[in-house]
Amino acid sequence: MAAPVVDAGYLKEIDKARRDLRALIASKNCAPIMLRLAWHDAGTYDVNTKTGGPNGSIRHEEEYNHGSNAGLKIAIDLLEPVKAKHPRITYADLYQLAGVVAVEVTGGPTIDFVPGRRDSSVCPKEGRLPDAKKGSSHLRDIFYRMGLSDKDIVALSGGHTLGRAHPERSGFEGAWTNEPLKFDNSYFVELLKEESEGLLKLPTDKALLEDPQFRHFVELYAKDEDVFFKDYEESHKKLSELGFTPRRTSGSAAKADANSSAVLAHSAFGVAVAAAVVIVSYFYEISKRSK
Ligand code: HEM
Repeated sequence: MAAPVVDAGYLKEIDKARRDLRALIASKNCAPIMLRLAWHDAGTYDVNTKTGGPNGSIRHEEEYNHGSNAGLKIAIDLLEPVKAKHPRITYADLYQLAGVVAVEVTGGPTIDFVPGRRDSSVCPKEGRLPDAKKGSSHLRDIFYRMGLSDKDIVALSGGHTLGRAHPERSGFEGAWTNEPLKFDNSYFVELLKEESEGLLKLPTDKALLEDPQFRHFVELYAKDEDVFFKDYEESHKKLSELGFTPRRTSGSAAKADANSSAVLAHSAFGVAVAAAVVIVSYFYEISKRSK
């Protein structure tokens, strides 16, 4: 599908949708599932084939029925009235905006949001998202395929500061932290404790402790929430823009703008020179006649 035209009207709709999302998330307490929806739409990206990614394809039955997406139809349905109210906004933008707002309203960092993602109806094959029963090499296979790094893996896993696992959806049960509607660094603090009474640790969460490169970041984020917020914000933005080059800020667009400014400057200079020549010749003519 074509990319949306991000003009002043589109940006205004984004602002209004952002307000509607804040109200929806507050009234339904659905920040965790909104964040999970945004991540599962984006996390199918393959940097080599340039397929998948934050393109709204998860709205299709074929994709939301993938085992790893169990439960996400709830979030898709909750967002339909927002889409109906702001039809110009693509699903791809709406789902990523919902993820950004979910982090923000639960006390997390403000994530820069650039609109303009195009929708796709092509669903990736099942199996691109991580399997919670596996270890660190699997996590690297999955996230490196997206073009993300070790730091991104650990920072983004901090998204489990929100929400819980539901046995009927994933087979796992419980929350990772004592305040699952608050975005903070407690996921890392709990992870480092030998025993966190009643809290969940997936095999992929434990893998972050066992692998020295990952553990370095776990310790850093548990110690310093500001560093976690800064890194999380960067990694979340990267995730939300996989395969998407914002048109307004892209290198080529900026170059095109720069080129057209150069052409304009050139023409303006040309016009000024021509005008000066006309004025000088006019005065020359007058002075000749008066002699
Ligand atoms: C690192 C690999 C990851 C694995 C293996 C994984 C696995 C899971 C599983 C099994 C659940 C429970 C689902 C349910 O039963 O409802 C879950 C929930 C969740 N995940 Fe992840 N996840 C990963 C990464 C992420 C990332 C990168 C984010 C966001 C940045 C994220 C955000 C969430 C949230 C917010 C929930 C709670 C959803 C709710 O309460 O309904 N996860 N994840």
